Amino acid sequence: MVAASSLLALPLLATAVAAYNASQHQLNPVQLIGANSPWFSGPSQGIPYVVPEGCTVDTAAFVSRHASRYPDLAAWQQWTNLSAKIDAATFTVSESAPELKFLETWKPVVRTPSQDISAINVGGYKELQVQYDMGVTYRYRYPDFYTDNSPFIAWANQYPAAPRVIDSARLFTRGYMGPNATRSGEVYVLNSTDPRGYANSLGTGDGCSTIHGGSGVESTTWDNTYLPPITARINSLLKGNLTFTNTDITNMPYLCGMETPILGYQSPWCAVFTDDELEGYEYAQDIKYYYGGGPGSYKNGTVMLPVLNSVIQRFQDGPNKTYTSSDGSKFQPPPLSAMFTNDGQINQLVSQIGVFDDQAPLPTTYIPAGNKYVASHFVPMRGTIGFERLTCSAKHYMRITLNDVVYAVPSCKSGPGQSCPLDTYAALIANKTAAAGTFPQICNISSTGATQAELTMKSTFLQDDALPWGYFVSP
Ligand SMILES: *[C@@H]1O[C@H](CO)[C@@H](O)[C@H](O)[C@H]1NC(C)=O
Ligand SMILES: *[C@@H]1O[C@H](CO)[C@@H](O)[C@H](O)[C@H]1NC(C)=O
Ligand SMILES: *[C@@H]1O[C@H](CO)[C@@H](O)[C@H](O)[C@H]1NC(C)=O
Ligand SMILES: *[C@@H]1O[C@H](CO)[C@@H](O)[C@H](O)[C@H]1NC(C)=O
Ligand SMILES: *[C@@H]1O[C@H](CO)[C@@H](O)[C@H](O)[C@H]1NC(C)=O
Ligand SMILES: *[C@@H]1O[C@H](CO)[C@@H](O)[C@H](O)[C@H]1NC(C)=O
Ligand SMILES: *[C@@H]1O[C@H](CO)[C@@H](O)[C@H](O)[C@H]1NC(C)=O
Ligand SMILES: *[C@@H]1O[C@H](CO)[C@@H](O)[C@H](O)[C@H]1NC(C)=O
Ligand SMILES: *[C@@H]1O[C@H](CO)[C@@H](O)[C@H](O)[C@H]1NC(C)=O
Repeated sequence: MVAASSLLALPLLATAVAAYNASQHQLNPVQLIGANSPWFSGPSQGIPYVVPEGCTVDTAAFVSRHASRYPDLAAWQQWTNLSAKIDAATFTVSESAPELKFLETWKPVVRTPSQDISAINVGGYKELQVQYDMGVTYRYRYPDFYTDNSPFIAWANQYPAAPRVIDSARLFTRGYMGPNATRSGEVYVLNSTDPRGYANSLGTGDGCSTIHGGSGVESTTWDNTYLPPITARINSLLKGNLTFTNTDITNMPYLCGMETPILGYQSPWCAVFTDDELEGYEYAQDIKYYYGGGPGSYKNGTVMLPVLNSVIQRFQDGPNKTYTSSDGSKFQPPPLSAMFTNDGQINQLVSQIGVFDDQAPLPTTYIPAGNKYVASHFVPMRGTIGFERLTCSAKHYMRITLNDVVYAVPSCKSGPGQSCPLDTYAALIANKTAAAGTFPQICNISSTGATQAELTMKSTFLQDDALPWGYFVSP
C-alpha cells in the first residue's frame, strides 16, 4: 500500500510559482478556499493511512464530488461584474502592493463561456489529469480489485444542470480501466428527480422541499466579522475611485480557487490576501456548509442515510456477493463502489457518517482553535468520502477517509488503526436512521409518483443495475 498523499499530490498546482508575492504565504492559498479549492489531501488526523498490520482491504466504496469545474452562471456574472467595475474605475495601485498591479489588466479567464459555464474544465486540461489520476490511484491502491479487460461499473448522479458529475465518473473510469474502458466499462447514472429515485439515487433530497443548501444568519454574522477589515485594507492600497465592497472581496478568494485549475498556474488573486484573511474565507465556507445542509442543519443530512445504508449492506455482504436485480438478472458489482455526485450530497453524507459526532456547533464570531469541520478537507472539487472494509483475522471493520485522510468515529474506534467494528458501525448508523424517521417524514412527502414503500431509508442502486430510473453511459 503506497501512501495516498504521495500518489494524489497535484504536482502542477503544488509547485506552481505564485503569480506575485508568494513569500508572504506560509500556507498554500488554493488549499484554503473551501468548496472552491481544487482537490488536495488534507492534514493528517493522527492516524496513518497504511493498512494496519494483519488486515487487508477487501471491499471499498467512495462518494466523490465531481472534479474542478468552470463557474456556474451566477458566479460568472459576479466575476464579469467585478471586471466591469474595475474597468470603469480610474485608479493606481500603491507601490507597497505590487501584488495588486494585475488588477489594471485582469479579465476573467473563462474564454468560451457559452460552452464552458458549469462544465468540468476540460479546456483547462488539468481536469483530465485529475480525474484520470484518480482512477489510476485507485488501481494502485487496490491492485486485486480489477482484472484487465473485465467489466467495471461506476455510479453517477444525474445532476440536471450540467454533465459534470457524469463526466467525472467517465474520466475516473478511463483512468481506472485504461484504454479499453469505453468497451468494457459503464457509468450507471441515477435520475434523482424521478420520484422513484428520490431516496434511491445519489441526489437524495432533490425531491425534498424540506432540504436547504444555504446557511443564513450564521453566514451573515461571520461575513460581518471577518470581511470589513480585509475590505478596508485592500481599499487603502488603491488610489482613485475604485472602492471594493465586502461582496466584491468575497469573490476574490473564490477566483483564486477557481481560476487556478483553469489556468494551470496559480491565479494572481491568490497573492492578494494574507494567510489570516484566507483562513477567514475558509471559515466562511465551513459555516456555509455546517449550517447549510451539514451537521448544524437539523435533519438535512439524513437524506443521505439511504446511500450510507446501502454501502453498509454492500460491506456486510462482502466483495463476492451476487445480487438479483429488479429485472431478475444477476448482478455482481465490483469490490469498489465508485460513486460521483455534488457538493451538497457530500456535505449531507459527511454529517451522518459519525466522524463529526463530537463536533461542537461552529461559533459565528471567531474561528475555534483546532476546528475539525473544515470544508476544504472534504468538499473541495473532487472531495471524497472513502469507506474501506478492513478484514483482520476474519473480523470486519469500517475505516473512513476524507480526501484520503483517515478519520476515526469518536464513539467507535476500538478496531485496528482506530477503525470501527463493522457490526458496531452498522448499529450506530441504524440508530441514526431510526432517529431520523422515515424518508417521507424527513422530506414531508405525502404523495408522489412513487409508492411510499419505495421511499425507504436504504438505497438499492449498489445492488441492482436494472432500476427503471437508472441508465448507462459509456466512459
Ligand atoms: C513579499 O512579501 C514579503 C513579506 O511580506 C516582503 O518582505 C517582500 O518585500 C515582498 N516582496 C515583493 C517583491 O513585494
Ligand atoms: C451584475 O450587474 C448587473 C448590473 O449592475 C446587475 O443587474 C446584476 O444583478 C449583477 N449580477 C450579479 C450576479 O451580481
Ligand atoms: C472614475 O474617475 C474617472 C476620472 O475622473 C471617471 O471618468 C470615471 O467615470 C469614474 N468612475 C467611477 C466608477 O466613478
Ligand atoms: C483491449 O482489448 C483488445 C481486444 O480485446 C485487446 O486485444 C487488447 O489487448 C486490450 N488492450 C489492453 C490494454 O488491455
Ligand atoms: C429524470 O426524471 C424526470 C422525472 O421523471 C424526467 O422528467 C427527466 O426527463 C429524467 N431525466 C433524464 C435525463 O432521464
Ligand atoms: C434544513 O435546514 C433548514 C435550515 O437551514 C431548516 O429550516 C430545515 O427545517 C431543515 N430540514 C430538515 C429536514 O431538517
Ligand atoms: C472473493 O473471491 C476471490 C476469488 O475467488 C477470493 O480470492 C477472495 O478470497 C474472496 N473474498 C472474500 C472476502 O470472500
Ligand atoms: C443503538 O441504540 C441502542 C438503543 O438505544 C443502544 O443500546 C446502542 O448502544 C446503540 N448502539 C450504538 C452503536 O450506538
Ligand atoms: C408539509 O407539507 C404540507 C402539505 O404540503 C404543508 O402544509 C406543510 O407546511 C409542510 N410542512 C413542512 C414542515 O414543510
